[in-house]
Amino acid sequence: MVSRPALELDLEGLNREFADKSPQQVLEWALKEFHPQIAVASSFGAEDIVLIDMVKKINPDARVFTLETCRLHQETYALMDKVKEMYGELEVYYPNTAKLEDMVRKHGVNLFYNSIELRKLCCGVRKVEPLKRALSGLDAWVTGLRRDQASSRTETGKLDLDKAHGSIIKVNPLVDWTSDDIWKYIRTNNLPYNALHDQGYPSIGCEPCTRAVKPGEDPRSGRWWWEPRDASECGLHVKS
Ligand code: ADX
Ligand code: SF4
Repeated sequence: MVSRPALELDLEGLNREFADKSPQQVLEWALKEFHPQIAVASSFGAEDIVLIDMVKKINPDARVFTLETCRLHQETYALMDKVKEMYGELEVYYPNTAKLEDMVRKHGVNLFYNSIELRKLCCGVRKVEPLKRALSGLDAWVTGLRRDQASSRTETGKLDLDKAHGSIIKVNPLVDWTSDDIWKYIRTNNLPYNALHDQGYPSIGCEPCTRAVKPGEDPRSGRWWWEPRDASECGLHVKS
């Protein structure tokens, strides 16, 4: 069923209107329209730090959630606590204990290296199911997706209908920003950032599934690096 706000909005018209608007202008509109039924999704990569700073400057009560997979880098946990200290409460979602126990009992704790199917099972238990819980009750969520991150992301709109999650609105204010734009904002505003970025990690996910890349390499090639490239999404961002 399509949610009420989605039914009432002319997404195509709004996307045309937002084409030349800044991320802050898109976020101002989104918070006015949906708060408190809207939240920023953060994995504490560079894009998410920018988004958190922008929304909190618009409304200090703006909501932020994270999917804590229990397999993150220590650097990410350090930043998570820093962000909490600076901006206030984070909504933290953990995997369902029974599902996690069942998965590890059957397939082992490092199952993701054994097959694409098992990797997707792990992402399903640790990220996709918790995301469903995080989004239940929301009319919109905000992500740090950028079009130049991957070929699967070139069509991402500033506003999308998220059919995979009950047809709520997905707000992607940074779609047309480059990595340079992100870093300029971080430096200008003196924001904290994940220490892994200085160790060659442009894209950050779970620790066993992410590695550093060499300068000039595809920024996402460090994610699930042992798999063929066309498999390399975890299921958070699916089209239908
Ligand atoms: S992923 O699908 O490959 O993992 P990516 O790491 O590029 O996604 O992140 C894109 C956006 O998805 C982030 O900017 C953030 O909004 C959201 N996201 C990714 N991982 C998480 C997470 N663990 N918790 C909350 N949001 C996340
Ligand atoms: Fe599991 Fe790796 Fe997916 Fe994290 S990225 S949920 S550890 S398969």
